[in-house]
Amino acid sequence: MLKIKLSQLKPGVKLGKDIFTFDGNLLLPKGSIVSKEQLEQFARRNIEEVYLWEESSKIKSQVDFQEVYKDSLAVTREFMLEAKLGKPIDEKEINATVEMLVCQVFDQNDLFHQMRIMKEKDEYLFTHSVNVSLLCILIGRWMKYSDEKIKELGLAGLLHDIGKVKVPDHILQKPDTLTPEEFEVVKKHTIDGYNLLVDLPWINESMANAVLMHHERADGSGYPLGLKGVKINNYASIVAVADVYDAMTSERIYSDKVSPYTAVETLWNDSFGKLDPRISKVFYDKITDFYVGNEVLLSNNERGLVVYIDPGQPTRPIIKVGDEFYNLAEDRSLTILEIID
Ligand SMILES: [Fe+2]
Ligand SMILES: [Fe+2]
Repeated sequence: MLKIKLSQLKPGVKLGKDIFTFDGNLLLPKGSIVSKEQLEQFARRNIEEVYLWEESSKIKSQVDFQEVYKDSLAVTREFMLEAKLGKPIDEKEINATVEMLVCQVFDQNDLFHQMRIMKEKDEYLFTHSVNVSLLCILIGRWMKYSDEKIKELGLAGLLHDIGKVKVPDHILQKPDTLTPEEFEVVKKHTIDGYNLLVDLPWINESMANAVLMHHERADGSGYPLGLKGVKINNYASIVAVADVYDAMTSERIYSDKVSPYTAVETLWNDSFGKLDPRISKVFYDKITDFYVGNEVLLSNNERGLVVYIDPGQPTRPIIKVGDEFYNLAEDRSLTILEIID
């Protein structure tokens, strides 16, 4: 049974526990289907959270993704601030957030559309943390991890850049390329993040190592330790793929975003010797399924619809423009600039 904030609920949910008024009278029994009017009544009575009946797999349709995302951003902002001030990080809120994010990733078709809508509406570090968490959960699911591991991955994703709270703002917000000295300071976010988390009882070794190692690369070119291949922990390899993908598809102060198609292609081409091929392959194969049916803007300025994706070349689909079909696998001069929402 999952506890959900009232603000995240849509009418039609089935209650998992009785709801009482503050003076102990039964308002609505367990098993009831809640109407819009009843939700408003709960709000008037300051009932903030309810338990849902269904298993988590069925909860997605009852919860408003945008609200969950906004709440996740608020929680992320809060725990980053606490970490910055040297306060203890609140486990309860973070755990509840990741549980909600895990539920959101069941209905995958909508996920990337929703993430695109929410992007760029908040500071990069917070949206990036929530997106990396969602992508880690998605990859964990694609790799058939257990529910427990998927939640751990979601937590590792949400917390992976927590060490950035120790990086001075003028470096974090710098619009130009960093000097080598400034880059050394940024690199420390991996070790600082690890140190912030490693002693917490609800963070296990794999999760702490994911935070420490998410910038390590298989050929030893990463940081902070320059570890190679098998020495990089599995969770870290998953966070790395999610991190690279989200960074490429986001507008940041020092670089323009690229389309998800270009991002996946670059990620795949750059992954040899750097990212874990087992993970980038799954990501490359699966993510492109999301893009059939998207309206896209092509590099020749025409708009078209993605109608077919060849599994062998998923980033070079067939696009219908008017009555014509462009096969991007054959016409390599054309690329997809962006997805139009
Ligand atoms: Fe990072
Ligand atoms: Fe990151």
